[in-house]
Amino acid sequence: MLARTLRNIARAQPATLSVARRSARGYSSVHAVHRNTPENNPSIPFEFTAENLARAQEVISKYPPQYKKSAVMPLLDIGQRQLGFTSISVMNYVAKLLDMPPMRVYEVATFYTMYNKSPMGKYHLQVCTTTPCQLCNSDSIMEAITSHLNIKPGQTTKDGLFTISEVECLGACVNAPMIAINDDYFEDLTAKGITEVLTKLQKGEKVTPGPEYSKRKDCEPFSGPKVLLNKEPFNVADITRADL
Ligand code: FES
Repeated sequence: MLARTLRNIARAQPATLSVARRSARGYSSVHAVHRNTPENNPSIPFEFTAENLARAQEVISKYPPQYKKSAVMPLLDIGQRQLGFTSISVMNYVAKLLDMPPMRVYEVATFYTMYNKSPMGKYHLQVCTTTPCQLCNSDSIMEAITSHLNIKPGQTTKDGLFTISEVECLGACVNAPMIAINDDYFEDLTAKGITEVLTKLQKGEKVTPGPEYSKRKDCEPFSGPKVLLNKEPFNVADITRADL
């Protein structure tokens, strides 16, 4: 019996590994490999606007002059916000500004997934499908988004408005299922709720982030807050055993 089980595992393993290897290779090449394209190549000039240059100088001034390369991450972020993505020209410009070998900047930009290395839609939809969100039916959220926009994760809509990414836990599991749209979290989502959000964005209307669709204020229990109910500030020393 044991021998048969071991034989079955041995037989099953190659298939499992080949799927894992294929996924890992596909994922890492997206993030780590640069190929020149008409919209992303080193001959495209880039420099910070006067306002962003002032912000960058302010960030750099927080570090001792010999360690100014420590500002690489915030400067890449400023570049990404200005251009819409972290192009090779953004990386080269940041390297020059910080007196760093460009390769050191490429290493940082390709290690962190928050730097988008190719052009993005105006709204970057990061759909969390990790376990807590999945248990709260993130599949229905992904399905609602992909069928409403008619694109898959990794793709951008033809009008340049939306790019979808499937991401790991974004740290808001208590309000699962959730997605991030640019810097904002939309939580306690339903398929109907996220479709309404997307429709409003397509019409250029304002949307309200947060757990709007569950009517929760933050991440309190669905049946309402259970602790810290006092309206007035109280002295911790006054708490009795009965209050606990
Ligand atoms: S699992 Fe989705 S936010 Fe944590």
